[in-house]
This record gives sequence, structure tokens and C-alpha cells, in this order.
Amino acid sequence: MKIESINSTIRSERVAAHSHIKGLGLDENFVATSATKPCGLVGQESAREAAGVVVDLIKNKKMSGRAVLLAGPPGTGKTAIALAIAQELGPKVPFCPMVGSEVYSSEIKKTEVLMENFRRSIGLRIKETKEVYEGELTELTPEETENSLGGFTKIISHVIIGLKTVKGVKQLKLDPAIYESLQKEKISVGDVIYIESNSGAVKRVGRCDAYSGEYDLEAEEYVPLPRGEVHKKREVIQDVTLHDLDVANARPQGGNDIMSMISQLLKPKKTEITDKLRNEINKVVDGYIEQGIAELVPGVLFIDEVHMLDIECFTYLHRALESTIAPIVILATNRGECMVRDTETVAPHGVPSDLLDRLLIIKTLPYSPQEMVGIIRIRAQIEGLSIEDQAIVRLGEIACQTTLRYAVQLMTPANVLRQVYKKESITVSEVDELRDVFWNAKRSGQFLACHDSSFMH
Ligand SMILES: Nc1ncnc2c1ncn2[C@@H]1O[C@H](COP(=O)(O)OP(=O)(O)OP(=O)(O)O)[C@@H](O)[C@H]1O
Ligand SMILES: [Mg+2]
Repeated sequence: MKIESINSTIRSERVAAHSHIKGLGLDENFVATSATKPCGLVGQESAREAAGVVVDLIKNKKMSGRAVLLAGPPGTGKTAIALAIAQELGPKVPFCPMVGSEVYSSEIKKTEVLMENFRRSIGLRIKETKEVYEGELTELTPEETENSLGGFTKIISHVIIGLKTVKGVKQLKLDPAIYESLQKEKISVGDVIYIESNSGAVKRVGRCDAYSGEYDLEAEEYVPLPRGEVHKKREVIQDVTLHDLDVANARPQGGNDIMSMISQLLKPKKTEITDKLRNEINKVVDGYIEQGIAELVPGVLFIDEVHMLDIECFTYLHRALESTIAPIVILATNRGECMVRDTETVAPHGVPSDLLDRLLIIKTLPYSPQEMVGIIRIRAQIEGLSIEDQAIVRLGEIACQTTLRYAVQLMTPANVLRQVYKKESITVSEVDELRDVFWNAKRSGQFLACHDSSFMH
């Protein structure tokens, strides 16, 4: 099994609508306080406190194989709370968000999509003691020679680097392939790096703290000059998910001829991960865990809009939750009583009752007018809008009469109007003007009811 060069398959996502959410904002007794820790969340205390208990269970590894359902009306912060849970868990615990409708694809089986996401949410922390060369990079000189194939080009024959630790300095002559990985990691003189001696894998630990204060504003992580010799044994910790392992070990099918290469390009790589491969990987992982090399880190699989799953997926989910290595599953839905997809039965939240029975349900409740104003104020801050207080209050009123989402959506256009009118900040008049320009669902529905005959049917 390959583990040296595993690329992480975590999807990077920009959730602009939730960019103000920084955590659950609970104190050590799981009591929701926005005063002590600004977390971006307003109100919804009991749901946040319940989510805090879930986070604690996850951190203490007591939640594996269980599932939580966030249920409540639209726009009451279910997705926001799930993302806050992810923030609380930190970057080392895998968190895999998906939407129920993602399972429907013409190429991949529904259960395959679920299985893949299950494996994305189970982490493995691999600890290994490896022989490494570690130190601050003091020199990086690629040596060039004439290209033996002729022409005027030059190729890099080897690279000379210098590594410095508290104890001494060592000069190393490296293969040109390692030079490439040095460039890929954007390593420059002054960085603390280590190179694994048997695989040649290069890792950048950070910038040496002798260089701190180089810039006024910086996004660097500074690390002290390593102690000990340059060549030594070092504990290397790697966080991967089971899906990362699947992808890294999936062998491309076919030979080396052009046709099979083209078919590889056309075929999505996902189909190459077979059950056989997964079983093999599970076996190796089990072995690692038994030997104490690796530790399982059950993460979170978050399925939003879970009522979009059909009975086949629900049955699969039910079984998967019972397997020995299962992540914590967090579901969210805004549906009340509705049909379970692909069946004739009506069930609460569109989730079959046997699965519902296993779930811990966290309710989210509609917001009070003050809470709506609070949320709008935070959004205005995050979007960097200059807006008068009265305009925020007016948006709060609009949110009460219509929906929070509608009110939040008016904010960016209001800023455009402010620029048109060359005003310092957004006032009530821009908000009112926009309210007449952009209709909300209710008003549009009422208009339809009155003027139904003028529409095509
Ligand atoms: N308590 C809160 N504090 C701060 N912002 C919130 C809070 N609740 C919701 N929001 C924000 O309001 C917007 C709508 O919330 P969200 O998308 O979480 O609702 P939802 O319950 O998932 O709705 P749906 O059922 O339609 O998916 C988002 O931008 C969200 O970040
Ligand atoms: Mg949502």
C-alpha cells in the first residue's frame, strides 16, 4: 500500500453564506454565550448546546456509528450549526459535507456515492518513525550539465542543499527529482524542512523563527531551529482519510497504448475503486491499528437535505451505521411529514421510521425579531457593508414579515444602490426601494393568485 505520496482528497469549498460562522460559542459547561466568544451564531441556544454535547462525544470518541438529525423550518440555521460543529472539531477531524441529491448520478451507483463519502469521513492518523534529514535550509544550488541528447538546453544533474540544526550543518547532494518536489512545496532558503531518507519525500515544517519579523503582516508559521543532528529518526504523523488511501492505491486500468490512455482520460477515476480494493485497504488498516502504528479518527459525514435520499440509500445508511468503522452521521432537513422517496409511505421528515428511531433529533426554532436583527448585523459586518442602524432594523422587520434569507439577500443590492446614490452608508430608503424591486416568494405568490389568467398554463 502506498502511503508516502497521498494527496488529500478533501474538497475545498467556499461557503459564502456561512462565512461568519466561527464555532458554536459555548463555554466549558456547554452553555451558549455569545458574549465571551464571538462565534457568529445568534440565538438558537438549545440547538447549539445540544450540538456542543455532540462535539464533546465526538472528541471523546463515544459517538462513532451514531447519527444526529437537525430538523427545523427553512432558514433556521441547520446548515450553519453543522458547519459550526466542523469548526469546533478542528482541521484534524475529517468533516465531509454532502447534499442528499448528490447521490443521483447516471455514472455511479447511489450507494457508491454514499460509500465514498463515508470513507471520506473516516480518518487515519499514521505515526511512523522515519529516518530523516531535518534542518533549516541554508543553501539550494541546482547543478546543471549539458543535455546528453544534444541541443543547447541544460538539464539539472543534481542539487546541493545545506541543512542547519542547533548541533551542526550538513551538505547533501540530491537527485533532481527531489529538486522538483522542493519547488512544488515552494521551499526557499530559511525554511525548516525534512526529507525522508528512504523515499525522498520532502515536507516543509515552517519558516525558521530567526526570520520572524521580516514582514509587518505575515501568514507564516514560524518554527524553532531543529535540535539534534541533521540526520536522525523523527516521528512523522500523517493524517489521511480512508478515501485518500483508496484513491492513492487505485491502479489505472489498461495498458500503455494510446487507446487505453484515452479511455482512462474519459473514464472517471471513481469507477476504479472497487470493493476488493477497499477490503484490501481495510485489512492493511486493521493491521496498522493492531500494531499501534495508526489510530482511527472517526469524523463527521454531514448529509444536508436528507429527505432527498430514497429508500435504497436509507437502508444502506442504516446498515453502514452498524459497521465497525463508521463515522458520525449528521443529517439535516426542513421537511415535516412527507413521502419517503420511492415509497408510498409518509414519515416524519421524509425519513423512514426505523432509521428515525436511531437518530438523536436536534430541533432548530424560528428566530425572534431581535435575533434576526443580530444575524443581519453580523452579515453586514462580514460583507464589509457600511449600513445605518435604522436600515438594519428595517431589514429585521422585513425578515420577520418574509424570511431571513430574503432580507439577507437584499443587502448586497442595497450596497450597489448606495454606490449609485453616492451615499456614505446604506439607509432605510435604499432598503425600501429594493423591497419594491425584488419581490419575495409570498408577494409573488399573491400576485400569481390575482393574475393567474395572464400567465401561460
Ligand atoms: N443562529 C444564527 N446565527 C447567525 N447566522 C445564522 C444563524 N442561523 C442562520 N444563520 C444564517 O442565516 C442563513 C440561513 O441559515 P441556514 O442556511 O443555516 O438555514 P437552514 O436551516 O439550513 O435552512 P434550509 O432548511 O433552507 O436549508 C445562513 O446565511 C446562515 O449562516
Ligand atoms: Mg440548509
